[in-house]
Amino acid sequence: MPAKIVVGVQWGDEGKGKIIDILASRADVVVRSQGGNNAGHTVESNGETYKLHLVPSGILYPNTTCLIGCGVVIDPQDILREIDGLIQRGIDCNNLKIDPRAHVIMPWHRKLDGLSEAALGGKQIGTTGRGIGPCYMDKAERSGIRMYDLVHESIFREKAAAVGALKNKIITQIYGGEALDVDTIIEEYVGYAKRLAPYLADVSVLTYEAVKQDKEILFEGAQGTLLDLDVGTYPYVTSSHPLSAGCCIGSGVGPTVIDEVIGVAKAYTTRVGAGPFPTELFDEMGDMIRNRGNEFGTTTGRPRRTGWFDAVILRHAVRANGLTALAINKFDTLSGIETLKVCVAYKKPDGTIFTEYPCDIQELEDCTPVYEEVPGFSGDLSKCKTYDELPQECKDYIAYLEKVCGCPIKMVGVGPSRDQNLER
Ligand code: IMP
Repeated sequence: MPAKIVVGVQWGDEGKGKIIDILASRADVVVRSQGGNNAGHTVESNGETYKLHLVPSGILYPNTTCLIGCGVVIDPQDILREIDGLIQRGIDCNNLKIDPRAHVIMPWHRKLDGLSEAALGGKQIGTTGRGIGPCYMDKAERSGIRMYDLVHESIFREKAAAVGALKNKIITQIYGGEALDVDTIIEEYVGYAKRLAPYLADVSVLTYEAVKQDKEILFEGAQGTLLDLDVGTYPYVTSSHPLSAGCCIGSGVGPTVIDEVIGVAKAYTTRVGAGPFPTELFDEMGDMIRNRGNEFGTTTGRPRRTGWFDAVILRHAVRANGLTALAINKFDTLSGIETLKVCVAYKKPDGTIFTEYPCDIQELEDCTPVYEEVPGFSGDLSKCKTYDELPQECKDYIAYLEKVCGCPIKMVGVGPSRDQNLER
């Protein structure tokens, strides 16, 4: 360590939760910096499964400080539900702190998320419906409600009444939807504020103090590189910055504090929601990977689209995140497949081959993957306890992936539990 960032390098759902959980067990501080309850981390610990959305994974360790930075958007009802659920299972949440600058997701954000998606007809983004985009829109427009406002009742009442009235006009007059009862919402949220107030603290200061004390800090990314608002597959992206740089902005510390950036990928590719996906499989192989890999969303339960490993995406992620290492999960899912395909470039309709990820989805939609075929591997990888125990063909495949991605693979996932991660 001391300061490591873990980011997803595909379209999210790469199994960051497990890697974060392993690294969190060695960290003093875990920081979440962007996104909201659109994220879903599944962590298996001591035979129990935890599905976390907003609370950093480090919460399972009693001595780890868990910070939610200014770049995160908070749904008060949801975070309280998560905190209550953890407390009921014996997990102490007193080490959880939320930055007062973080923005609050209000019911009108969820409502507008649904209405704007419906208005897009066949061109929907396929959002999680959690109000993430509309909340970040208000933040950028400078009309949002922050956690600071929420816990200061008179400020909150005034802001929420004004913003709520405006949102109702948009809901009814632009989208033809049903108005929300703003007064009831305000009373409900004043109640949440009372319960959340004790968790507020300046995360920028806490993180910087931890840096100065040479503490082990882990920044846990949410979503993935291709869902980044700028370098992702716009407009089929989320409204925040899942890139490593987003961790700095969203926690309020500068990039010079970061020592390592670890990118998490799967040994194949998945995606939820709409948008181009060149290596997508529509055949039995795609179904097999989905079922064997249990590729169904943690947050929405939606079946994930599945496809072959795409090294063009990985190289894009290595560059955009400044990755120092890769952790690749789910090699066990591919066991028994005779020949594996890896996309190493894209081909344009005119036959031109290109090796960098396109800037625009139109180009991405038009291109077809250029595959290299690699021998597969077999055997029950999930039982391997060390890297050396892996079948030689699997090690060869890993060496091949390192070469085509241009980044060392330091962790190899062979199952969902913490001990099914082979470190090199
Ligand atoms: P939003 O973040 O709910 O606005 O959704 C925008 C896009 O990001 C949609 O395609 C979602 O499916 C996708 N998305 C958001 N969060 C996650 C995640 O944690 N994993 C995978 N996809 C996500």
